[in-house]
Amino acid sequence: MRIGSIINGIENNEKNRDTLTVRNPYNQEQVAEITLANKADLENAIDQSFETFHQTMNKMPAYQRSNILRRTAELLEERKEEFAKTIAKEAGKPLKFSRGEVDRSVQVLRFASEHAKQISSEVIPMDAAVGGENRLGFTKRVPLGVVAAITPFNFPLNLSLHKLAPAIAAGNTIVFKPAEKTPVSAYMLAKLFHEAGLPKGALNLVLGLGEEVGDPLVEHDKVQKITFTGSLPVGRGILKKAGFKKVTLELGSNSPNIIFEDVDTDGVVNDLVKGAFAFSGQVCISAQRIYVHHSKFDNFLKEYVKQTEALSTGDPLQEETDFGPMIDEESAERAKLWIDDAVSKGAKIETGGDLSGTMLTPTILTQVQNDMKVIAEEVFAPIVSVIPFESEEEVIKLSNDSIYGLQAGVFTKDINRALRVADQLEMGGVWINEISTYRQDNHPYGGVKQSGIGREGVKYATEDMTELKFIGINLK
Ligand code: SIN
Repeated sequence: MRIGSIINGIENNEKNRDTLTVRNPYNQEQVAEITLANKADLENAIDQSFETFHQTMNKMPAYQRSNILRRTAELLEERKEEFAKTIAKEAGKPLKFSRGEVDRSVQVLRFASEHAKQISSEVIPMDAAVGGENRLGFTKRVPLGVVAAITPFNFPLNLSLHKLAPAIAAGNTIVFKPAEKTPVSAYMLAKLFHEAGLPKGALNLVLGLGEEVGDPLVEHDKVQKITFTGSLPVGRGILKKAGFKKVTLELGSNSPNIIFEDVDTDGVVNDLVKGAFAFSGQVCISAQRIYVHHSKFDNFLKEYVKQTEALSTGDPLQEETDFGPMIDEESAERAKLWIDDAVSKGAKIETGGDLSGTMLTPTILTQVQNDMKVIAEEVFAPIVSVIPFESEEEVIKLSNDSIYGLQAGVFTKDINRALRVADQLEMGGVWINEISTYRQDNHPYGGVKQSGIGREGVKYATEDMTELKFIGINLK
């Protein structure tokens, strides 16, 4: 399979171009060959988006945008299995989780289809100000123009849709640059939108490398907004280059999960195994730090290790697989080095820590310190640390001792304590009696501190894809 960028509906697969091979991270089999876009392609994609915004999307009524999004949801639902298998192959995500990702993506499209019809405005009480008599003022939410959507490999379909669907709901056009590792589901998605009736120039897919097309996309004057999910270093770079553009950044986390003494730990182990090891920990809100009250620590750890060791590990395309590879060898080797670094400073491996190619066994660490990389930085790998604590005050302090603040989980039967702790955690979101890794696609999602800027969640992202415009009338 050879695929290329799709600009104004035309796929570029010229033979003399540089190419990149997409490989299945589990067995290195070729999934696709990509024809790489160059700077001229990017320029063309931006121009097409700009023209289509001014000629078509800017004027398209909400019900039509809503219909396109609903139709895309229907088409995606029909092709669920094809998309799920593609994600499993190109990302190495176990099929059961890939199917879950497609289901969530269908919902995101349906939410966006609804929100497209609910973008509303406000009448301003103009006579509240001296001299405001006989004036009428109101706001309108207007689309921004060209949106650059730069998306990661870990949820190649759903995190793309968290950007594309709100952008379309609000009436924008898009230059879509998906992760180099997972371009195939993005390519299929762009085609699906066009099939559902989206004007071809409203969604332009650019398959290229960061330096060649990513940087100029971020810097381009015709781009009004950048929406990005990815790593903190790349996010920092985008922020520096973005100039006056609106920016939404969903970056990293080292999410804490706190288990208080009144919890039956056997009831939370299973969820926390999934929370730390689903998609090999390559999830921004993966459970990276589990703080367990010292009175429950030994019980929890014993059962946690047991259930982790029972995960079915192997080929993502097999129905029974729970745990597959990391995205590439480089990432797996980096994660292994972080484990070694922690061990050299006194950490203990309770299970895991073995590396073979892209397969890093699910790893549980204890006796960790806050300054170790496995605690202080985002591991984005199947590594979790279990840490005992004595008091509420101490665990809040430990949880907040981080540059990140995306999402946390708090387990307790005491509602007063739960709400008190939720208030004090420096996070964009806190779940009570739920793991940090749980996300629903309609709640606000985003971080404080260096976890990011802005919020996704379809309603919030849609609003963020608009500009607030004021219109006043002097009625005299
Ligand atoms: C992420 O990794 O940022 C997204 C997690 C999710 O959508 O479940």
